Amino acid sequence: MDTKRDILAIDDLSPDELRDIIKWAISAKQDEGLFEEFMPLQGMTIGSIYEKPSTRTRVSFEVGIDKLGGNPLTLLKGDIQLGKSESIEDTAAVLSRYLGAITYRCFGHADVESLANGATVPVINALSDLHHPCQAAADMMTILENYEHYSELKVAWVGDGNNVLHDLMLATAALGMKMHYAVPKGFEPNEEVVKRATILAKNSGGEIKSTHDPIEAVKDANVIYTDVFISMGEEHTSGELINKMSAFDYFQVNEELVSHADDDYIFMHCLPAHRGEEVTDGVIDSSNSVVFDQAENRMWAQMSLMTFLIHPAAWEAFADLH
Ligand code: CP
Ligand code: NVA
Repeated sequence: MDTKRDILAIDDLSPDELRDIIKWAISAKQDEGLFEEFMPLQGMTIGSIYEKPSTRTRVSFEVGIDKLGGNPLTLLKGDIQLGKSESIEDTAAVLSRYLGAITYRCFGHADVESLANGATVPVINALSDLHHPCQAAADMMTILENYEHYSELKVAWVGDGNNVLHDLMLATAALGMKMHYAVPKGFEPNEEVVKRATILAKNSGGEIKSTHDPIEAVKDANVIYTDVFISMGEEHTSGELINKMSAFDYFQVNEELVSHADDDYIFMHCLPAHRGEEVTDGVIDSSNSVVFDQAENRMWAQMSLMTFLIHPAAWEAFADLH
């Protein structure tokens, strides 16, 4: 039996695999009517466990699974035994007897690692405190829809050193882009992730640079990306939150900041956005903004990823035709 593969971080895919998965997703998006006959997940149920709220991830997985001929099953943590009277590993072993794959949105990244260890079917991280690989796959697809090539593009991150930055950094590094990130002092990304990204950038001809100055990061950038300053799971530490928010005073993506970017820059945000905090209406509603394309592309990128993991022969057959 083939060994199953899990995607817990975007660098669980090789750079070539990531490129191919994105190419597949773009072809699928353009191929109207394809899913009337292409049903690689037919007869299969794909389960998704959520410990945190979700709009895009939940709906894009449910609709994407349905398009691929499969049956989506969403499990909210409060409704199942996970973490109450059953360990994550035992839950994973049981679910593997019913499901073709499991997606999991959790708080601590170690929990999705435990689920992957206990499962005999592929596990996809649907966001943890450390990684958001599905977002990065959709983001790379969105960048390629707007620019012909990845190389030479400068991507600027302005905001928190969080889960979305981690996979964005790994993906841009894998694909040979320049990633310049501006975060306030004390809110740097995870050191181990930065190390992995630095190695990827070295191999791809990309670049990783950090700064505490948003203008420096954004200068001549082709892509500007931000995310909420307070991520899910951080809301409960209210005293610390006030301190955290004040560190981000100069990190709002507004009209003045984007004036330093390339004229044709695109604005990206994983959403949900806190308008008026990390981004102004003027920027997110401008013609440079591609945030709703990113949201749509979650579905296409995840369809490619699921087919790749669950039914590689069908994935290859489609790839060969396009
Ligand atoms: N971007 C993203 O993951 O959105 P949701 O939290 O709505 O799934
Ligand atoms: N950094 C955010 C991303 C939400 C999609 C969070 O973890 O809440």
